[in-house]
Amino acid sequence: MATTTTRLLLGDLVSHAKNVPLRYVRPPSARPHLSAVEKSNATIPVVDLQELSGSGRAMVVKAIGSACQSDGFFQVKNHGIPDDVIGAMLRVSKEFFRLPESERLKSYSDDPSRTTRLSTSFNVRTEEVCNWRDFLRFHCYPLKDYVHEWPSNPSVFREVVGDYCKHARQLALRLLEAISESLGLEKDYMEKALAKQAQHMAINYYPPCPQPELTYGLPSHKDPNAITLLLQDGVSGLQVFRNGKWVAVDPIPNALVINIGDQIQVLSNDRYKSVLHRAVVNDSSERISIPTFYCPSPDAVIGPAQALVDEQHPAVYRSFTYGEYYDAFWNRGLQRESCLDMFRATNDPI
Ligand code: OGA
Ligand code: NI
Repeated sequence: MATTTTRLLLGDLVSHAKNVPLRYVRPPSARPHLSAVEKSNATIPVVDLQELSGSGRAMVVKAIGSACQSDGFFQVKNHGIPDDVIGAMLRVSKEFFRLPESERLKSYSDDPSRTTRLSTSFNVRTEEVCNWRDFLRFHCYPLKDYVHEWPSNPSVFREVVGDYCKHARQLALRLLEAISESLGLEKDYMEKALAKQAQHMAINYYPPCPQPELTYGLPSHKDPNAITLLLQDGVSGLQVFRNGKWVAVDPIPNALVINIGDQIQVLSNDRYKSVLHRAVVNDSSERISIPTFYCPSPDAVIGPAQALVDEQHPAVYRSFTYGEYYDAFWNRGLQRESCLDMFRATNDPI
């Protein structure tokens, strides 16, 4: 173990590096071109969820629907996850990545099918160029099935993260209800479509990088799940592809960034869009981001909602199990072309 440890994680290796090691360097045509990024955050909608359970519900549902349709991304305020739960989640995440490497490595695995694992980059088994990211990824619903696999150091990790997960799940379900309603479907349509449901979480750790122009934290991709709730610390790094340009989504304290994943795009028969996004790194600050990926269970059969299919709007996708989709996503690597294209309906006459 000792001979391989420095190669497994970015962690301590890079904190002293003056140059980005070659295995992280992208070819010139595939670099982030940071100077071309739109600085303004103003174009990504911010939705106040305060009235979602009150008399203003219809208006909030409408705002969510239009954000899903035109942007695929929005930030939410007054989302119901208490500030102290968020603060504790960010704190324990930082503490985990400050543990000695030997301690962190107890969770290491490069096998994407493991339900709790620490790893680096995206999928080190398949990729040629690595990403400037370490991450802890774990399943968290049903909580009791997975919590015993999670790190037990820091000592409060399981309690703090378990608490955050429960709140994040409640928020995901409220958003799925609003999304169903905004499409004119039964309130519980999306929740039911996800069958037994699943919830995965990642804690992404992006160390400072001496040459951020040469590499990515995470290259351009779309999320394969149903809906993602992203908690970020105060450091910028997330960018969304919009009208042909990359736009920085700068963090708003205690707000969460929500984005539509591929499964909602399929279920909505392309009414709502899963949008390309990426994470870039910087040369001065480490960054932590914590996505909650709310997903169907692997056995869920996903396809366009019947109510959204008619002569003018034929089914854009065939039906598939989420397990099939998820395997395809992990095996092909992060690419600009969407994994969705592999699941399009064929329009050939039968
Ligand atoms: C992801 C993701 C963005 C970020 O983990 O899928 O898009 O800012 N993360 O870390
Ligand atoms: Ni993502």
